[in-house]
Amino acid sequence: MEEPIIQLQAIAKVYRVGVETIHALRGVDLSIGRNEMVAIMGKSGSGKSTLMNTLGCLDRPTSGEYWLGGRLVSAMKADELALVRNEEIGFVFQTFELLARQTALENVELPLLYSATGGGASARRKRALEALERVGLGGRVDHRPNQLSGGQKQRVAIARAILNNPRILMADEPTGNLDSATTAEILGLFSALHRAGQTVILVTHENDVAAHCQRVVRLFDGRILSDLPAEQDDEVAPHVPAARAMGAAA
Ligand SMILES: Nc1ncnc2c1ncn2[C@@H]1O[C@H](COP(=O)(O)OP(=O)(O)O)[C@@H](O)[C@H]1O
Ligand SMILES: [Mg+2]
Repeated sequence: MEEPIIQLQAIAKVYRVGVETIHALRGVDLSIGRNEMVAIMGKSGSGKSTLMNTLGCLDRPTSGEYWLGGRLVSAMKADELALVRNEEIGFVFQTFELLARQTALENVELPLLYSATGGGASARRKRALEALERVGLGGRVDHRPNQLSGGQKQRVAIARAILNNPRILMADEPTGNLDSATTAEILGLFSALHRAGQTVILVTHENDVAAHCQRVVRLFDGRILSDLPAEQDDEVAPHVPAARAMGAAA
C-alpha cells in the first residue's frame, strides 16, 4: 500500500485550565491515504475540533507522533508548523470567515499575499479567478460577502482554501449554517473536488453530510470509537445514496 498522507500514532492532547486537566484526545491512532474523503463524527466535546486542529497543524499534540506527507510535524516548532500549514492544508469553516469589506476575488487572493510563492499582482489575480471558476463563482468575483448567499459565501471560502493546491482540504461543520438545499450543493462541490483527486477531511454531526464521505471515523471521549466505510456505519449507512452503496458492495 502507498504510504498514507496522514499518520497519527498515540496522539494525546491535554488542556490545563486552572487546576483542571482535560484529556481532549487520549491516544488516537489514525492513517488517512491520498484522495480519501473522511468524515469525523462524535457528540459535542468528544474531541473533533481538537483532532482537526492537530491534523490541520494549528496546534500541537501533548504527546504522540504526527506524520504528514512523510514529515514528523509533531516535533516542529510553531514557525515551521505554520509553513507546513500554509503549504499543505486548506481550511473551510462553518462561519465562512470572509473579510466583509473585500470582494470575493480579494478574499480568495489573500493567502497569496502572505505566501513566498504567491507571485505578483496579476499572477495572484489569475490564480484567484481560476479558483473561483472551479467552485462555480466566476460570475461573482466583484461581489462582497453581504451581496452573496450563504452557499456562495462558502464557495468563496472553498476557493480560498484550494488556492494553494493543498494536499489536504479540511472543513469543520462546513454546512452547519446552510439550509438543506445549499448543504447538498456544497457537499456536491466537496465531492467533485474529491473526484478530481483532493483529499478531504470534514467534521460533522449530521449523518447525511457524512454519507457523502467514503469513511466515517467516530470519536467518543477523546478516543476513536469506530472507523468504518460509510456503508457499514449503522447511523450513516441509511443516508448513503443507493447507487453508491451498491457500487461499494460490488
Ligand atoms: N482550548 C481549550 N482549553 C481547554 N479545554 C478545551 C479547549 N479546547 C477544547 N477543550 C475541551 O476538550 C474537550 C474536547 O473538545 P473539542 O475538541 O472542542 O470537542 P468537539 O469539537 O468534539 O466538540 C472538551 O472537553 C473541551 O471542553
Ligand atoms: Mg468542535
